[in-house]
This record gives sequence, C-alpha cells and structure tokens, in this order.
Amino acid sequence: MIVQVDGKPVAGRDGQSLAGVLHAAGIVAWRQTRGGAPRGLFCGIGVCFDCLVTVNGEPGVRACQRAAADGDIVVTGES
Ligand code: FES
Repeated sequence: MIVQVDGKPVAGRDGQSLAGVLHAAGIVAWRQTRGGAPRGLFCGIGVCFDCLVTVNGEPGVRACQRAAADGDIVVTGES
C-alpha cells in the first residue's frame, strides 16, 4: 500500500493507521502548535488531536484513528 505524504510516496502495510505509516517511515512530527512546537503522534487513541492531517482534501483528520488506504493523499501542516 502506498500513500502520498506531501507529494512523496510512503509505503505502508494493510491495517496500519496513517500515524503508523508515518512513524514507520521515520516521520515523527508533522504539524506545529501556534508557538512552533512540533506535534505528531502523542496519545495514539484519538484524544489529544496532536496528530491532525488533511486526508484526501478532508482537514482535521486524526492520523491515529484513520486506517491508511492505498492512494490516500496526506497533507501535513494544514490542520
Ligand atoms: S495522537 Fe492523540 S488524537 Fe491522534
């Protein structure tokens, strides 16, 4: 399974969350707070909202709660 992350192909495994795909690719921070602090996977259970990404044009998706699907287009830093 391949997803596009900010225009770059990233390989994942079936059943992984998008956060899992990002972490497996070595991407551990993909957005920032208003103060510029890096954010990515934190709670992993859908509570903290630190892992937000835009997926297939849908903003504010929690990467830890979305199953990755082949062809997903993920944009970081927007949400
Ligand atoms: S890591 Fe906390 S909501 Fe996704």
